[in-house]
Amino acid sequence: MIDLLADDEQGHDGPGDGAQAARVRVWDPLVRVFHWGVVLAVAVAWLTADEVQQIHEVAGYAVAGLVAFRLLWGLVGSRHARFAAFLKGPRATLAYLGDMIAGRERRYLGHNPAGAAMIVALLLTLSGTAFTGWLMAEPDRVAMLPSLPQIVAPAFADEDHDDHDVVTAWRGEGANEALEEVHEVLANLLLLLAALHVGGVVLASFRHHENLPLAMVTGDKRAAGPGDIT
Ligand code: HEM
Ligand code: HEM
Repeated sequence: MIDLLADDEQGHDGPGDGAQAARVRVWDPLVRVFHWGVVLAVAVAWLTADEVQQIHEVAGYAVAGLVAFRLLWGLVGSRHARFAAFLKGPRATLAYLGDMIAGRERRYLGHNPAGAAMIVALLLTLSGTAFTGWLMAEPDRVAMLPSLPQIVAPAFADEDHDDHDVVTAWRGEGANEALEEVHEVLANLLLLLAALHVGGVVLASFRHHENLPLAMVTGDKRAAGPGDIT
C-alpha cells in the first residue's frame, strides 16, 4: 500500500528533548481525515439533533461512511492504521492498564492497548448510533430486521395492540419510541466514551511528554527511543 512512513526511523531520544528529536510519520493522511471528519460529523449530529433533522441525518450518514472506510483501512491501510498492528487481547490490555496505574507503562508509537480498546468501543458505538438513526428515519426499514420483532415487540405491545400481532406492534409507535430510546442512549454513551477518550489522550500526552492531538493533525511523532514500542 501507500508508504506513508517517513524514511528516518533511526533517531532516538529521551522524553526531554522533544523539539530537536527525529520525527517519524505515524498517522497517514486518511487516518487523520477520518479522525477529524468523525469529530466534526458527530458534533454536527449532536448540535442538529431535534433541531434541523435533514442536517442531522446527513451528518449521521457521514459518520457511517467514515466508519465503513475506517474498517476497510484497518485491513489494508498503512502500518499503524492496521487493526493487526494495535488490537490486543484482554490480558495485554489489562496488563497495560496495570502498568498505567503503577506509572510504568511504555510509550507506543502507534495506539497503546488501552487506547485501542477505546477505539473499538468508539467504532461500535458510532456504528450503533448511526444504524439506529437510519432505522428510525423510515418505518419500513425496521421490517427488514426479521428476528427483532419477536424479541422486542411484546414489551411495547400495549392494550391498543393485539398481542398476536407483534410485528404490527413493532412497526408501530412502540417500535419508534424504543428505537429513539436506544438511539439516544447510544448517542449519550458516545459522548461519555469520547470524554474518556480525550482524558486518556491528555493523560498519555503528559506521561510521555508529547502532544498527541497535534500528532493526529500533522501525522508525525517523536521517533521511538529505547524501551518504546514501535
Ligand atoms: C466525537 C469525538 C471523538 C471520537 C468519536 C474519536 C474517535 C477516535 C478514533 C476512532 C480514533 C482512532 C484513530 C484511528 O486509528 O483511526 C481516535 C484516536 C485519537 N483521537 Fe479521537 N475521537 C474523538 C475526539 C477527539 C478529540 C476531541 C481529540 C483531541 C483532544 C482526539 C484525539 C485523538 C488522538 C490524539 C488519537 C490518537 C491516539 C493515540 O495516539 O493512540 N479525539 N479517536
Ligand atoms: C453518530 C451519529 C448520530 C448521533 C450522535 C445522533 C444523535 C442524536 C441525538 C442526541 C438525538 C436526540 C434524541 C432526543 O433527544 O430525542 C437524535 C435524534 C434523532 N436522530 Fe440521530 N444521531 C446520529 C445519527 C442519525 C442518523 C444516521 C439518523 C437517520 C438517518 C438519525 C435520525 C434521528 C432521528 C429521526 C431522531 C429523532 C428526532 C426526533 O425527536 O424527532 N440520527 N440523534
